[in-house]
Amino acid sequence: ANRRSVIAGNWKMFKTVNEAEDYAVKFLEEVKDVTDLDIVLCAPFTALNPLKNELEESVVHLGAQNMSWADQGAYTGEISAQMLLDVACTYVILGHSERREMFGEKDEEINKKVQKALATGLTPILCVGENLNVREEGKAAERVSSQVVQALSSISKEDLSRIVIAYEPIWAIGTGKTASSKDAQDMCATIRATLNGLMGLGAEQVPILYGGSVKAENIAELLTEPDIDGALVGGASLDPISFAKLVHNAA
Ligand code: G3H
Repeated sequence: ANRRSVIAGNWKMFKTVNEAEDYAVKFLEEVKDVTDLDIVLCAPFTALNPLKNELEESVVHLGAQNMSWADQGAYTGEISAQMLLDVACTYVILGHSERREMFGEKDEEINKKVQKALATGLTPILCVGENLNVREEGKAAERVSSQVVQALSSISKEDLSRIVIAYEPIWAIGTGKTASSKDAQDMCATIRATLNGLMGLGAEQVPILYGGSVKAENIAELLTEPDIDGALVGGASLDPISFAKLVHNAA
């Protein structure tokens, strides 16, 4: 398949403006020549505008970690797609398991956010994944497919071809437990089959990422799998030098 690989760092709730700027300088120096994959940094809202200046005309794309489904209005504490575009974001993580589990995000709301991102030209990184109970009950594939179908409901085939999906088994996030390459591959293949069902065989071009304790040492093996096209990286994206090493091991 002629899909591009995507390596996205998700800083979660880490880094002040100064720390973000310092990171960008060091990271860019290390990855400035990498052109064969898409590198994305998903930073906290407060660091986006400073990073816009640091990353301008570089190989590194900027992303946010969440956004509102609304355009504007009386929504205290929310950030709109236009606000993200204004600070040069091109990607936005939607439906991360931490948002689903700790902040009550439901599939229906995630679907509205995905629709808004696509309508405004942002590339959504839609996160899906099962928890340990669901996996042990043997219902992981069913749960993940259902998350994909619900998050992508009422979206045109053309728009679907512009999304990125990240499969993140919740039991592997921040735990040091990576899914085996085979388990990750099996689920990414299930996701692609589900997408093909929605798109009528258009899913060959959709990048599907794996996330959950990815690091410089295990990225290359994960990427040998046919349906894994990159990674969404939390903890191992926080240090610019080690994240750059991960990017090089993926390139
Ligand atoms: O968005 C990233 C994931 O939640 C993975 O986090 O790499 O720290 O396990 P992690």
